[in-house]
Amino acid sequence: MCGIFAYLNYNLNRERRYILEVLFNGLRRLEYRGYDSAGISIDCSSSVSNVPSPSPHSPPPLLFRQEGNIESLVKSVYQEVDATKLNLEETFSVHAGIAHTRWATHGEPAPRNSHPQSSGPENEFLVVHNGVITNYEVLKETLVRHGFTFDSETDTEVIPKLAKFIFDKANEEGDQTVAFSQVVLEVMRHLEGAYALIFKSRHYPNELIACKRGSPLLLGVKEFSPETSNGAIFGDLKFPMKDEKPKELFLSSDVHAVVEHTKKVLMIEDGEVVHLKDGGVSILKFDTDKGKLSGGLARPASVQRALSVLQMEVEQINKGNYEHYMQKEIHQQPESLTTTMRGRLIRGGSCKDKTVLLGGLKEHLRTIRRSRRIVFIGCGTSYNAALASRPIMEELSGIPVSMEIASDLLDRQGPIYREDTAVFVSQSGETADTLNALQYALENGALCVGITNTVGSAIARTTHCGIHINAGAEIGVASTKAYTSQIVVMVMMALAIGSDTISNQARREAIIDGLFEFPNKVREVLKLDQEMKELAKLLIAEQSLLMFGRGYNYATALEGALKVKEVALMHSEGILAGEMKHGPLALVDENLPIIVIATHDACFSKQQSVIQQLHARKGRLIVMCSKGDAASVCLGGSSRVIEVPQVEDCLQPVINIVPLQLLAYHLTVLRGYNVDQPRNLAKSVTTE
Ligand code: M6R
Repeated sequence: MCGIFAYLNYNLNRERRYILEVLFNGLRRLEYRGYDSAGISIDCSSSVSNVPSPSPHSPPPLLFRQEGNIESLVKSVYQEVDATKLNLEETFSVHAGIAHTRWATHGEPAPRNSHPQSSGPENEFLVVHNGVITNYEVLKETLVRHGFTFDSETDTEVIPKLAKFIFDKANEEGDQTVAFSQVVLEVMRHLEGAYALIFKSRHYPNELIACKRGSPLLLGVKEFSPETSNGAIFGDLKFPMKDEKPKELFLSSDVHAVVEHTKKVLMIEDGEVVHLKDGGVSILKFDTDKGKLSGGLARPASVQRALSVLQMEVEQINKGNYEHYMQKEIHQQPESLTTTMRGRLIRGGSCKDKTVLLGGLKEHLRTIRRSRRIVFIGCGTSYNAALASRPIMEELSGIPVSMEIASDLLDRQGPIYREDTAVFVSQSGETADTLNALQYALENGALCVGITNTVGSAIARTTHCGIHINAGAEIGVASTKAYTSQIVVMVMMALAIGSDTISNQARREAIIDGLFEFPNKVREVLKLDQEMKELAKLLIAEQSLLMFGRGYNYATALEGALKVKEVALMHSEGILAGEMKHGPLALVDENLPIIVIATHDACFSKQQSVIQQLHARKGRLIVMCSKGDAASVCLGGSSRVIEVPQVEDCLQPVINIVPLQLLAYHLTVLRGYNVDQPRNLAKSVTTE
């Protein structure tokens, strides 16, 4: 999805070259979100710093936009710098630059459709946008009637043009002092849809305005000691902030682009307008009753907020010794799972029972236990994680669990009741379909629980309660460590809900024991890396790959197939083995490779029968089985076998997905595709 980044240095000398590099690096950190073009805007002259604001005399900001990757943008910027003899050593004591990665929704990837989008030839207002403006056609018609011409096919272009229209109108009416924030608040009043926006304007040099509704946006603050300008950070900060201290301010769609500069951040909330001006930060928000003035400009209320401190290290967002993020994240799973469980499993000590403690759910467990139904809601991998956890949730809670793909629930307007507990599963916490389903469940009165990896995300903030999966930053578009942590969190949630039932105590304790040993089992299964690479070599030229699973491992088949299609760009389908005879069997011949998941659980004998039937039809089988079971699944010695460590049945999907993640990874590398940013896909899908 689109990524937004902005950098403002105040009372701090920075050369143009430095400013450009900060903007480019910000964009590189946002690359993982998925994009197909990029752009930046910087000032053309440092004399802008001395121009009183607002001024008609400040020169138009420079605009660079390019389709393709960040490096194409960087190349084109430096080519233009050479051609125009732009001085890279020119120093700015104050400067506001904006940058953007675009994931095409309205109009093909092309420079004219890339952001920043402009109000017109003089770049009076420039805007970067993440989200979708749903009423852009109506706004465009109105603006065209007022003489505006449009250069792009984007929904975004109406925004800078609307800003110019509002600014010009205020000036015509004699309001020469209309503030930047007033213009933006008025723009916001006309916009429908979801957005995070940053505005830059030649009328308001060295100022930036950020605002949002729906899409994520945050501000990072780094203050310097005036004596040394060496990055010594001052004490606690609160907003509004008004001071002359040297500082750097960053705006970004997510923390990855900010954490290397500062850990002090403000998560901007919906409806807020953050104004960066003269070294200060002020926050305004529409007062729903008083904000809308009939006829005149909107009058907002000032908001007070405090900074929070990011719990994240820069190393988390680097590849370390790995070649790709996906590879790193697969191999990190023993550690990410340890972090997921840290402080939540209790065994021994003053507590006699083995139990789990989930702080975020504690107050709501009684309500959940009284629910008539638990509804798991998510998309893609997060949906699959919920599906893997469904059997244990039903077993330990005794409550029926239904599954909903978020978009489908909304398409059907499926029934959600006050007596339901709706569980929203999302790595990013920002997925538009899941968020819309959450809104729908809230309107219908359900208790809403969030399971997400992103602290401060929309899902984390909007649900009544929840559990963070604490898997650490996941940067590869293909979700791997978040999937396994999500399952473990939902298993712990089942244990917590079921903890008031004596009859399943032994079962619960066995699972808790299993969880204590679990990271070592994951370490063991990761040793299959080379074996999976060999298998990938065999499958490299295949057109298609089927995966059969059932019970706990139906989800493993779906998720394994999703990984293969998403990154290796090979058709792959996860099939419920119980459905084999109802259609898929027709596909079976000696050519099509089929992975059958047949680890040792209650479904094992049924899977043995599936293997027999596939074997009888000369199926080309690859069987995943528990260590020691090879002989009983490998009929006539003809199939290839993947032997995995055996764990408690409800945890087995976590073990079983690892070889399939490795297979997808190696297939992708061998087939020469982009591992971390697969074609057409985005990490956070913030549009419907
Ligand atoms: O951030 P979320 O977990 O809500 O994202 C949902 C899906 O878009 C996501 O899981 C997607 O399927 C992954 N790219 C799969 O690897």
